[in-house]
Amino acid sequence: MTATSLDGTVALVTGASSGIGEATARTLAGHGAKVAVAARRLERLERLAAEIGRHGHTALAIQSDITDQQQAIAAVERTVDELGRLDVVVNNAGQMLLGPIEDAPTEEWDRMIDLNLKGLINTTHAALPHLLAAAEDSARGCADVVNISSVAGRLARAGSGVYNLTKHGVGAFSESFRQEFASRKVRSTLIEPGAVDTELSDHIRDGVREQVRERFVDIQMLESADVAEAIAYAVTRPWHVSLNEILIRPTEQQG
Ligand SMILES: NC(=O)c1ccc[n+]([C@@H]2O[C@H](COP(=O)([O-])OP(=O)(O)OC[C@H]3O[C@@H](n4cnc5c(N)ncnc54)[C@H](OP(=O)(O)O)[C@@H]3O)[C@@H](O)[C@H]2O)c1
Repeated sequence: MTATSLDGTVALVTGASSGIGEATARTLAGHGAKVAVAARRLERLERLAAEIGRHGHTALAIQSDITDQQQAIAAVERTVDELGRLDVVVNNAGQMLLGPIEDAPTEEWDRMIDLNLKGLINTTHAALPHLLAAAEDSARGCADVVNISSVAGRLARAGSGVYNLTKHGVGAFSESFRQEFASRKVRSTLIEPGAVDTELSDHIRDGVREQVRERFVDIQMLESADVAEAIAYAVTRPWHVSLNEILIRPTEQQG
């Protein structure tokens, strides 16, 4: 089975100002896609877009807080207006604000639900007409939605309740989406990383953050590029091949 090129395609990656999203934008650009990179930190997006440009590829930096539905819609529309089409959406933006349910600051729950769930479904909804059009009109013969879940979308743990809730929800939405759009050749890929060395845990509240990091001190975590390569592998398969679910953990990670 040979990989298909992403030449002539356009990908939108949310949460591309750091970590897995940033690495994914680089990798998809390397496979030939024009990439729109979206997040709130514009300066980091512009630096990434410039770097991708220096490698002879095309990237567009879009400042967007996708917890605001209008901004999610605007990010999709700007991608299509400026890059011409939309073939691949990587719904990567996410927050992991861990901690026990008891006495939790519930605004953390709101932030995770607004981003991990509502940001993802609103971006997907806005992108859908463009993805359906791309699936009908592309050399690849398909379009892709890639949703970044987590091991936490398969296994619930004490101290992770609302993050588990959001990532299990991403899994359910991805499967429902798959069934609705399989016949129209929009593929659905769920990526479930284990521990990846990114900024994600920086935002966990004091006291909890140290306990979370303690779980992984003795293992070699994944790099963002490891996950990006799995994403690129999925979206470069021929149209009749769907990698619907990819669980990717550091080899030494237990749970
Ligand atoms: N790292 C891990 O161990 C791990 C494991 C499993 C799953 N994941 C998942 O992987 C995804 C990426 O996380 P990461 O590890 O790469 O962490 P990260 O480096 O913290 O990346 C998170 C990204 O989300 C963006 N973001 C946050 N709030 C946003 C908003 N309101 N609107 C738009 N973008 C927003 C951030 O950019 P701005 O702050 O600039 O907006 C950033 O680019 C998340 O969905 C996470 O749950 C990570």
